[in-house]
Amino acid sequence: MEGWWKERGGQGGDQEVEGGRGASLGELGAGEGKGGGGGAEGGGGGGGGERLTEGQVFEEVEALVTSVLDGYNVCIFAYGQTGSGKTFTMEGSNQEKGINPRTLARLFEMIANKSQDFTYTVEFSILEIYNEEIKDLLEPGGNKKLEVRQGPDGNYVQDLFLARVSSYEEVIKLWSKARDNRTTFNNNINEHSSRSHLVLSVYARGENRSTGVQSYGKLHLVDLAGSERLSRTNATGDRLKEAQNINKSLSALGDVIAAAAGKQGHIPYRNSKLTHVLQDSLGQDSKTLMIVQSSPLVRDVGESICSLQFATRAR
Ligand SMILES: Nc1ncnc2c1ncn2[C@@H]1O[C@H](COP(=O)(O)OP(=O)(O)OP(=O)(O)O)[C@@H](O)[C@H]1O
Ligand SMILES: [Mg+2]
Repeated sequence: MEGWWKERGGQGGDQEVEGGRGASLGELGAGEGKGGGGGAEGGGGGGGGERLTEGQVFEEVEALVTSVLDGYNVCIFAYGQTGSGKTFTMEGSNQEKGINPRTLARLFEMIANKSQDFTYTVEFSILEIYNEEIKDLLEPGGNKKLEVRQGPDGNYVQDLFLARVSSYEEVIKLWSKARDNRTTFNNNINEHSSRSHLVLSVYARGENRSTGVQSYGKLHLVDLAGSERLSRTNATGDRLKEAQNINKSLSALGDVIAAAAGKQGHIPYRNSKLTHVLQDSLGQDSKTLMIVQSSPLVRDVGESICSLQFATRAR
């Protein structure tokens, strides 16, 4: 597994920032670790006012898009406490596009650039994992329980709707329809808190026009539900159950990444739906990028340390 880790300050949505507003996008010390575990390098950016634009964050991503078209499986995650800016980073705003639209646009651009030599068939799905259940956001409302299976192309979700797509515009249309179906609620930290893990997936099957050699790569863009200390959100009832499921599955994700990076014999993919769905894209020949969001707020320092510890463990 190859991993790059980027820690990125988010914006907590209020004004309680020490060291100035400019710290909102400050890198808290980006390290790059390649080759699954060692060789951390790269210096700390410091939180003192350095800004990273969505475009700069995207530079990290571009190489991975090429890998998908070469037949690798790739996962790009946004991780961090609730309200730290994961959904913002992945989706962006009208003014500044996020990782998802940029990645998808680049993918179709690359396919067009390679079209003299390769043909690609592309499929697209959107699912969320809420309380350890998989929900299809492109075709919501089915009663059938969606289960993970193994097939010739690795793990897949049985009965998940796969849309055949041939342009960026088509994907964005599907995405804007599906995004309203995502489970969000107000917790007392984030008014539109994502209560589920969201997985946008692109499946690209390529064929070299002259040699007939085929490739198959998957790209998963994952906006994780936010980690949270239960004592801070005062969650009860359904919200408490959600939060417990979120925290449990995030810790299962950390276990899997750490085991894969440490090349351990047993990797506990089945301990959560998220890691089971992504099994063939986490570890071995796959590539993973995790963008760790951390809040610049002083009162969030405990959570920020936890996020950075997660990143260190996963490196
Ligand atoms: N870089 C940013 N620039 C401007 N606004 C931002 C930025 N990052 C986050 N925000 C705003 O902060 C609020 C919380 O962000 P967001 O919903 O992305 O957090 P999250 O990490 O996805 O939280 P949760 O885990 O609860 O889903 C949103 O209103 C979002 O628009
Ligand atoms: Mg979110």
